[in-house]
Amino acid sequence: MKLIDLANPFDAPVYHEEAVDSTMDCCRALAAEGAAHGTVILADFQEKGRGRQGRPWKTEKGQNLMFTVLLRYPEFCDIPMAISLRTGLAAALAIEEFVPALAGSVLVKWPNDVMLGTASLAKKTAGILVESESANVYIGIGVNLLQRFFPNDLEDKAASILSFFARNFPGQELPLPLTKKEAPLLLLEKILAFLHSELTYPKAPEESTWKKRLETKLYKYGESVIFAEGASDSQKFTHGRLEGIGEGGELIIIPEGKTKPMHFMNGELRVY
Ligand code: BTN
Repeated sequence: MKLIDLANPFDAPVYHEEAVDSTMDCCRALAAEGAAHGTVILADFQEKGRGRQGRPWKTEKGQNLMFTVLLRYPEFCDIPMAISLRTGLAAALAIEEFVPALAGSVLVKWPNDVMLGTASLAKKTAGILVESESANVYIGIGVNLLQRFFPNDLEDKAASILSFFARNFPGQELPLPLTKKEAPLLLLEKILAFLHSELTYPKAPEESTWKKRLETKLYKYGESVIFAEGASDSQKFTHGRLEGIGEGGELIIIPEGKTKPMHFMNGELRVY
């Protein structure tokens, strides 16, 4: 494991490995050895990258950004509310700063996917996995960055920053004066900067403004949605209008034909 020189606003080390099973497990091992709040482990390749709901996270070697940040809180109750959604917001803001031409095309899909496109045609470009163990939180982020092609089963659903840019700005180069090695590091720096500010300020919930920022980027905000409750194989669907996000990060939907909003903590929006 190599220590790399990268600006980390959490004031903690950033480690790099060429190949790992999953940065989530490396980060847990670092935590067990006493690593500090804000320690980051980044890898070029994961043999067993994992996503939400037990899905695998597979990406091409050396093309993308994959890392996990360790956040240590004094008590479980100190863990920021809606941490995964706020992480999605931080990643979306960082991607917009990374490639300003994408501003307006970066969306956060509840609970924590970052999409590129429009509400009617958006593809996933980043996934977030938040795991915890008492008051330790492991935030894993995978961003499809330079990968040009995706396997058949993902082609309609996934895009990288590069593939989306190439499709939407034909004939133009991605405006990054960087090598393949430098691009993920620059994006990592930006994500850490936004993550630090999104999670640190403000402490008082009544002063919190993350929901407002998020709602400007919320996938299908105010539109008709189909929501699958609970586990990934759930057959329990709610059709309705996406009303917004609650203080705890829950998804608020007004079901068709009803006026009373429903609040959901677990489940997934269907992309259609
Ligand atoms: C999802 O979309 O379901 C979440 C995907 C999270 C992938 C990242 S890549 C870095 C970190 N290590 C993992 O094994 N998973 C997360």
